[in-house]
Amino acid sequence: MEVVILPDEDRVGLAGAEAIAQHVARRPDAVLGLATGSSPLRVYRELGQQVTRGELSLAQCRAFLLDEYVGLAADHPEGYRAVIEREFVQLVDIDPANVRGPDGLAHDLSAACLAYEQAIADAGGVDVQLLGVGSDGHIAFNEPGSSLASRTRIKTLTALTRQDNARFFGGEVEAVPAHCLTQGVGTILQARHLVLVALGEGKAHAVQQLVEGPVSAVCPASVLQLHPHVTVLLDEAAASRL
Ligand code: GLP
Repeated sequence: MEVVILPDEDRVGLAGAEAIAQHVARRPDAVLGLATGSSPLRVYRELGQQVTRGELSLAQCRAFLLDEYVGLAADHPEGYRAVIEREFVQLVDIDPANVRGPDGLAHDLSAACLAYEQAIADAGGVDVQLLGVGSDGHIAFNEPGSSLASRTRIKTLTALTRQDNARFFGGEVEAVPAHCLTQGVGTILQARHLVLVALGEGKAHAVQQLVEGPVSAVCPASVLQLHPHVTVLLDEAAASRL
């Protein structure tokens, strides 16, 4: 695991974008794994700037989201597909048809999870997966207690995650969906390179557990210690307990 501590969020964004750009330079049709949440936003903005300057093209790339809420209308602005459309797809030159997320509106959610796993496998797996971490150590929506071998499935969000994410729903915890579909920890571990971004004091405990703690389902992010190619990009506040 490579842990890189950088002075500010802009440098973290730049380093995250560089990691992705390197994969695309080697393989223009790379398969990208996208994360939502606030942590990756600077990475997406930096990628957008590189595309605008003509230094990078994602036109041949495909991308898969980590997770999605269950039951949010397709046009709901906080649905993760809508967030990725706004914060990533519109900034770069990727074909929107090549960006896919789990279908949180499917009648048969279990079948949608299986179909999603199959779609990732059919694409040849994810080359570079961007990740954030929850303040309780979750990755994607794999909350504490998630099986470290889990695959894409339906999960119930914890009270803490619903509280954390209420900021995207007008501050109303009740407005945050109670369920989600998420790639499993085992699914995420199959990506060939994991790039985790964490910013701010609120992540310092989760980061300490993920880098230095025991590998345990209590902190699902700690499983990254078992992956052969992980880059952890931190600002100084997120690294303050290391
Ligand atoms: C949500 C997402 C995670 C993300 C986490 C942290 O729970 N499902 O993928 O890592 O939020 O978000 P933020 O980066 O906004 O702190």
